[in-house]
Amino acid sequence: MKVAVLGAAGGIGQALSLLLKTQLPQGSELALYDVAPVVPGVAVDLSHIPTSVKVEGFGADDLDKALTGADIVLIPAGVPRKPGMDRSDLFNINAGIVKNLVEGIADHAPEACIGIITNPVNTTVAIAAETLKAKGKYNPAKLFGVTTLDVIRAETFVAAVKGLDCEDIVVPVIGGHSGTTILPLLSQVEGVEFSQEEIEQLTHRIQNAGTEVVEAKAGGGSATLSMGLAAARFALSLVDALNGEEDVFEYTYVEGDGSDARFFAQPVLIGKNGVQEILHYGDLSEYEEKCKAEMIEGLRGDIKLGEDFVNA
Ligand code: NAD
Ligand code: LMR
Repeated sequence: MKVAVLGAAGGIGQALSLLLKTQLPQGSELALYDVAPVVPGVAVDLSHIPTSVKVEGFGADDLDKALTGADIVLIPAGVPRKPGMDRSDLFNINAGIVKNLVEGIADHAPEACIGIITNPVNTTVAIAAETLKAKGKYNPAKLFGVTTLDVIRAETFVAAVKGLDCEDIVVPVIGGHSGTTILPLLSQVEGVEFSQEEIEQLTHRIQNAGTEVVEAKAGGGSATLSMGLAAARFALSLVDALNGEEDVFEYTYVEGDGSDARFFAQPVLIGKNGVQEILHYGDLSEYEEKCKAEMIEGLRGDIKLGEDFVNA
């Protein structure tokens, strides 16, 4: 298994690469690519950790070498938010970065599963899809927007409010990855009852958790450590599924039947070839239906922005 991390020298990239170095199956390869000159050093640093995962660093001119043979490519390359910004404010810089990197994937690792982390995810996944399509290499079963951070936050916050163990909590989170497009389905948390006030407070906190970190970091960036963990959890699920393990499920932002929006985070069964089956997210409460109805046009607009960026 070869995993490439594009943007590996950044806050997420380094945390993610550390977790992959320690948790990928024995004998895997980890290719670290970044335009920052520190990337070979990050690779040397990680290579001193005693696991059999082989780590190599690749600088700006070596995207092709980083990608060749990759089974999974994870993209956290790009700029993070500062206080006062929305994720959509990152579009001007990050759209071009994602497009260029995905063109590289189309040329050098067209069969790889791709996990997009770079914000605004609602839009950058559409950019990736259209970029691959323009190159004749788009396979919707292999393109994922990584929304796992919303799921782990929801689990953490619900456990804290209810005084439960995080390990025992599963919270579905559907929709997209910004503001109200992040829709936790608290009505589906098994064995836990919430008051309407708790539902509204928890939903608001889960939707604004990214901003909570951005403000607390006070100009120093956004979530990197929790995101590193979330991306590693997602990537390791992909590894398991590609290696033939059955019953691997993740909530992730994929292209489905379009009944809500072209891309929508929902429960996905992942198999040897990527998306094996997109499952329906089940019945929503009246409150969740209302939240979905209120956000869906915004999500569709985010997606269109990405499509137009590539096709205009
Ligand atoms: P960072 O600034 O710490 O790291 C970004 C890295 O990308 C840097 O090392 C930079 O050199 C590199 N980079 C920039 N352009 C590149 C290019 N063309 N090719 C390769 N590398 C390039 O930022 P971060 O905190 O790691 O965040 C990265 C992105 O992830 C941001 O857009 C952020 O908003 C997003 N993010 C997404 C989620 C999510 O849930 N999906 C969560 C947190 C952050
Ligand atoms: C997050 O949810 O933490 C990320 O999308 C980063 C951000 O800008 O909030």
